[in-house]
Amino acid sequence: MGSEAPVGVFDSGVGGLSVLAEIRDLLPAESLLYVADSGHVPYGEKSTDYIRQRSRILADFLLGQGAKALVVACNTATAAAVNDLRSLFEVPVIGMEPAVKPAALATRSGVVGVLATTGTLQSAKFAALLDRFAGSVRVVTQPCPGLVECVERGELDGPELEALLRSYTRPLLAEGCDTLILGCTHYPFLRPLLRRLVPENVTLVDTGAAVARQLRQRLREGDLLACGPACPARFWTTGDPVSLNAVLPRLWSGNGVVTQLSL
Ligand code: DGL
Repeated sequence: MGSEAPVGVFDSGVGGLSVLAEIRDLLPAESLLYVADSGHVPYGEKSTDYIRQRSRILADFLLGQGAKALVVACNTATAAAVNDLRSLFEVPVIGMEPAVKPAALATRSGVVGVLATTGTLQSAKFAALLDRFAGSVRVVTQPCPGLVECVERGELDGPELEALLRSYTRPLLAEGCDTLILGCTHYPFLRPLLRRLVPENVTLVDTGAAVARQLRQRLREGDLLACGPACPARFWTTGDPVSLNAVLPRLWSGNGVVTQLSL
């Protein structure tokens, strides 16, 4: 596999674009392929078997496009499928998980809140993450159905979304959380709104930048870092390409070609 081959990135939808931007900023010489499984979003309430099956199909597609490494830019799919993908494929597979470790180090109140999908919060991987990194910090979890659908529509603000976000953050703040983990890749797009809704002293953390650094590390180890110049990013969606084209300018600051994918 050549070092100029692209990096393949996928998510249940457009959320992984928050991770793609971190990768592009850290590794501008890398050519990027992105699949939004928007025809099957949200993953958050679906079964582990279903998400595993979708993840395999998307990974297979990206490898068929020549990807030298895969980034599972989705906490829910990582929890359900990353082990499976690593056992099936030989390329580096980088997954992501809620930022429990940095949040446990950052908190001053000793209480951390996690906003994530039901699938992530109920997974064995998340339980293991808490065992490993929460230490004496109290972790309060909050599933957030409905947020992903808003971001998929490119809706990042507005009274209904604000009411929904308030209903999810209020219980966490009432518990004394001073650090909130954005444990789903769709949520960083809601940062500006969240910032307005929670007190200034509350820290918001996500793992997009850490995943980009992990990718760099894995590519370096495999002597796979590209020299560039990168090709323009390519986007596929299993949903409606017209709607991806419509929301893309709000979620991605660069150009790219969108193609429909029937998988
Ligand atoms: N963006 C995804 C995550 O990081 C999944 C959202 C969903 O499809 O429910 O968990």
